[in-house]
Amino acid sequence: MSESMIIATTLEELRQARSLLDNPLGLVPTMGYLHKGHISLVERARVECASVGVSIFVNPTQFGPNEDLNKYPRNIEGDLKLLEAAGADLVWMPTPEIVYPPGFQTWVEVEGLTSPLEGAMRPGHFRGVTTVVAKLFNAFQPQKAYFGQKDAQQAAVIRRMTRDLDFPIEITICPTLREADGLAMSSRNTYLNPQERQAATVLFRALSAAKAAHQAGERDADKLRQAMSEIILAEPLAKMQYISCADYDSLEELRTVSGKALLSMAVYLGKTRLIDNFVIGE
Ligand code: PAJ
Repeated sequence: MSESMIIATTLEELRQARSLLDNPLGLVPTMGYLHKGHISLVERARVECASVGVSIFVNPTQFGPNEDLNKYPRNIEGDLKLLEAAGADLVWMPTPEIVYPPGFQTWVEVEGLTSPLEGAMRPGHFRGVTTVVAKLFNAFQPQKAYFGQKDAQQAAVIRRMTRDLDFPIEITICPTLREADGLAMSSRNTYLNPQERQAATVLFRALSAAKAAHQAGERDADKLRQAMSEIILAEPLAKMQYISCADYDSLEELRTVSGKALLSMAVYLGKTRLIDNFVIGE
């Protein structure tokens, strides 16, 4: 661990600072506006690695034209305080021009796994995620990288990319941190007004109901999806975009749950789109 946290902007600054850090280096990629969920990844890296790198970059290429890129919340000062307290050694905060200089035309794309769920609702999203994460891997040269189960499909896609492109990096997926009432922590929760914030527990309630049904022996995936949609439909402020009961590895929709499965959903509370998931059958 270094004496004080280094903050880099250019790629040259990052590479220079990184070269002085001990291995293994653990990387935590973020888009900032950090909360305890992000910090739990930094803390995990701190325990497991000799040094810890964090990126803060609101990656424009993973936002669709009608998404929240321009209003994505930012709080650099607060973020840096939290990261320093959590023991990060190096923080990279590049500008969009540094990551995507003029003439940029190279993309990393995972097929198959990116088709359903979030990929179906957000065309091009995962291409932006995998491209930026590949660039972060090249920039930081980490031995380990940490991602959250909160974004289950993102985690699966990054694992696939890491394997397929032979990045010598161990990927760790960390559990979802939740508020006391079950709402998964997310930078986007800040968009919710007080009524929407209360109603937002509907994702956790729906997932819990389906998990309970599975625990009680229900194996019909349609019944589990129905258990979730009933609860979401009963919440007047919530609008369901999709619900899913999919195979944990392939993310294909199931008819019958036999092994490990992913229950997941995207729900609008007003204009705010929230996602959440549970793994069942572990
Ligand atoms: P961001 O949404 O800032 O999330 C950064 C990391 O924190 C991701 O791995 C995400 O899964 C994890 N995370 C978010 N909320 C969490 C929670 N409640 N509990 C545990 N982990 C949580 O995900 C991204 O940024 C971007 O797509 C990125 C990977 C940085 C690429 O731009």
